[in-house]
Amino acid sequence: MIRRNIVLTGFMGTGKSTVGRLLAQKLGYQLVDTDVIIEETSGKTIPEIFAEEGEAAFRQLERETAVRLAAQSGLLISTGGGMMLDPANGAVFRPTCDIFCLTAPAEEILRRVLADEGQARPLLNVPDPRGRILELLTARAEKYGQYTQIDTMGKTPEQIADEIVGLCARA
Ligand code: S3P
Repeated sequence: MIRRNIVLTGFMGTGKSTVGRLLAQKLGYQLVDTDVIIEETSGKTIPEIFAEEGEAAFRQLERETAVRLAAQSGLLISTGGGMMLDPANGAVFRPTCDIFCLTAPAEEILRRVLADEGQARPLLNVPDPRGRILELLTARAEKYGQYTQIDTMGKTPEQIADEIVGLCARA
């Protein structure tokens, strides 16, 4: 049986990795994280790629990763927060994947990314991360808005994963 992949998108700190892990367990899907794949294939961390090769090079690696993953099935694909803003990646994933966008208000995103010390986020490594989050959220709103929206506020990762399982069952 061909099982449509599930793609999670949404701003940094909306819970894509945590929810992705749970969803993969619940559905028996293989969990993949595009940032991790890019780090493994390039042998560099995301901050190193941004610093040494620039954001455009990172976005090109994301496009190559999308093409490889879309050809497979039964994957739970947790994407970097900017990946699904590129129309090319939307077009590549749509035929074989159901795409969900996790959302949270700016203050909550700020709280979560500050708490998440394990993950370096070059785009937020600025003197005013709160201002940058607001700016990026505004700039990205329309593009995130094209995908099925999943509000994460006041919900546990378990509840969010169950909500997505329910939506997939109905599809
Ligand atoms: C980015 C989000 C990051 C990572 C890179 C760029 C973005 O992933 O891909 O730093 O443009 O929003 P997370 O959303 O997993 O933090």
